[in-house]
Amino acid sequence: MTLKRLSVVLLACLTLSACGGVDPNSPLGQRKAIFKQMLKAGEDLGGMLRGRIPFDGPKFAEGAEKLDALSHEPWKHFPQVREEDHTSAKDNVWQQQSRFQEMARNLESATGELVMTSKVQPYKVSNLGPAVQKVEDACSACHKQFRDH
Ligand code: HEC
Repeated sequence: MTLKRLSVVLLACLTLSACGGVDPNSPLGQRKAIFKQMLKAGEDLGGMLRGRIPFDGPKFAEGAEKLDALSHEPWKHFPQVREEDHTSAKDNVWQQQSRFQEMARNLESATGELVMTSKVQPYKVSNLGPAVQKVEDACSACHKQFRDH
């Protein structure tokens, strides 16, 4: 095996193990990647409000837009039938589809409101806190019902 070939193989293994053996192009791999980006975007916003990252109004508004766009994305990557492996989605995602979809819409409307709030000037951290809280509540409400930890 040539060195080049070896490094291609190694790289593929690294990528796979980084996702816990999940094919990044599978529906599961795709939704997990989106959820991770949502977490990162949400943490950046929360970090700005809590002082971990310096508050920057335009940057916050941009982050809110990003989170809002992401919040529409994971749902289409839940297939008709639950995967057997590596998913931490509970069975009831498929058994209580309408409730699941309703909670997805709740998140989308919370991130939509956050975008609106984040555009209000002058920027006020005191307005943004409750809007971010509402988004975080929408995440955890769904996780409580539909995600196995
Ligand atoms: C409507 C339900 C629902 C909402 C709302 C929701 N999630 Fe999730 N989330 C899930 C489910 C189901 C899984 C498990 C996916 C799987 O493993 O198949 C999950 C998994 C995750 C994961 C783990 C991904 C991985 O690598 O395994 C993260 C991180 C995450 N969600 C973050 C968020 C954040 C942040 C929000 C809010 C901004 C959010 N979720 C809102 C249902 C939801």
